[in-house]
Amino acid sequence: MSRFITAAVAVAAVAMLSGPARAADAEQGGVLAKRWCAACHVVAADQVRGSTQAPPFSEIARKPGFDAGQLALYLLLPHPRMPDMNISRAEAADLAAYIAAQH
Ligand code: HEC
Repeated sequence: MSRFITAAVAVAAVAMLSGPARAADAEQGGVLAKRWCAACHVVAADQVRGSTQAPPFSEIARKPGFDAGQLALYLLLPHPRMPDMNISRAEAADLAAYIAAQH
């Protein structure tokens, strides 16, 4: 658990130090999602199916309290039952912007 907190603090520190964020690019996020996430998640309306365990991105975007900024941070941390994809902060923001546009 403390490793998780350390990682979260590190992510927040990097986020603060790296200056003005460039605008998240949902289109680029879509390209990344199809490449990295579509094996398990349904990432677009025209995708037939992902794995039954992973929630479709449209469902994630419709959750109450959904927040693209929090999602981008979530994507930077390792989480259970998903491979650690080691994505950059900009890539996480792009993916979050893409997911936010799926509802
Ligand atoms: C190997 C399969 C796999 C891949 C690849 C994968 N995921 Fe997941 N993902 C899962 C599973 C399974 C869950 C459900 C985890 C759980 O319920 O504990 C999940 C959960 C999530 C959640 C949390 C959903 C929620 O509402 O709590 C998000 C957000 C997410 N994935 C985003 C992504 C993104 C973005 C990518 C691509 C960069 C990705 N995933 C790639 C399997 C995968």
